Amino acid sequence: MSLLEVDDLSVTYRIADGEVPAVRGVSLTLDAGEALGIVGESGSGKSSLALALLRLLPRDARTSGRILLDGDDVLTMTWGRLRAVRWAEASIVFQGAQHGLNPVQRIGDQIAEPLLVHKLAGPEKARRRVAELLEQVGLPAWRSRSYPHELSGGQRQRVMIAMALACEPRLIIADEPTTALDVMVQAQVLTLIRELVAAEDIALLMISHDLSVLADLCDRLAVMYAGRVVETGPSGGAFAHPYSRALSAAFPTIGDPASRLAPKGLGGDPPDPAQLPSGCVFHPRCPVALETCSTVQIDLRPAGDRRTAACVLVGED
Ligand SMILES: Nc1ncnc2c1ncn2[C@@H]1O[C@H](COP(=O)(O)OP(=O)(O)O)[C@@H](O)[C@H]1O
Ligand code: SF4
Ligand SMILES: [Mg+2]
Repeated sequence: MSLLEVDDLSVTYRIADGEVPAVRGVSLTLDAGEALGIVGESGSGKSSLALALLRLLPRDARTSGRILLDGDDVLTMTWGRLRAVRWAEASIVFQGAQHGLNPVQRIGDQIAEPLLVHKLAGPEKARRRVAELLEQVGLPAWRSRSYPHELSGGQRQRVMIAMALACEPRLIIADEPTTALDVMVQAQVLTLIRELVAAEDIALLMISHDLSVLADLCDRLAVMYAGRVVETGPSGGAFAHPYSRALSAAFPTIGDPASRLAPKGLGGDPPDPAQLPSGCVFHPRCPVALETCSTVQIDLRPAGDRRTAACVLVGED
């Protein structure tokens, strides 16, 4: 059994004049100690997927499908169980998470909080654990007495990582954890996350709009387009789906803000999820579309070397 098994997950937001299908039937698995990257343009449903995994979506979102964490269904578990899972088994580092720090509380107290709340440590043991965690993320122990405004953006993101590690989770979900940081700091923080999860045998679900961020860091990649996974495969190999190929051909420099939008060389915009094209939703932008592509939607199918892709040109024939 995998640590995380997502089966046919959908997330739909209710809005004033209708519905936004942000995630549409996503299935994926993640083993203990494995790093899976999820890549896709802005608006492809990555954050909705991440939030759904720990039931952190706003009230106007409807979720269906199954999310098994260690065999336990996150979508149906009690609130009490869910609270325990959120810190002790899986934790999440958000995009611009630095704003999640309390400005008037010393960072040491903020890192210690989940340990104390979940009764994993008393005050003295928590203090020692905070010092150890700060050291793990490359900050001196005396920083525990600092307030968030006394730290740089990169240091604050390191604090957020220390918080995510505090209760020794088995899964860390990192949603664009370095997007707000400058390029040098981004590379340092990403390397840090990778080293920590490898050393502690933690599973990592790393989300980014930037393929270059994920390629080195992850064992496997899943490519999202308009709420669906259109390709999965080992991160080293060549892509099979025309959308993934366009993404990788564009291969933006690390941290390039322009890559949040359409990759270079790929015309048009991602579709509005409230008005999706028929058939393969990528067909209006696909450079190799066939006539049937506007009517037939293809599910993920084998594409060689542990790879799957949702495209009529892949596999079978
Ligand atoms: N709270 C919300 N209400 C309505 N629509 C939303 C909400 N959050 C996200 N969306 C829409 O869902 C789609 C997917 O968004 P998101 O999951 O944030 O994608 P990504 O993280 O890949 O940029 C987008 O079209 C976005 O506008
Ligand atoms: S199914 Fe057709 S439109 Fe969709 S990616 Fe493949 S070739 Fe392009
Ligand atoms: Mg996002």
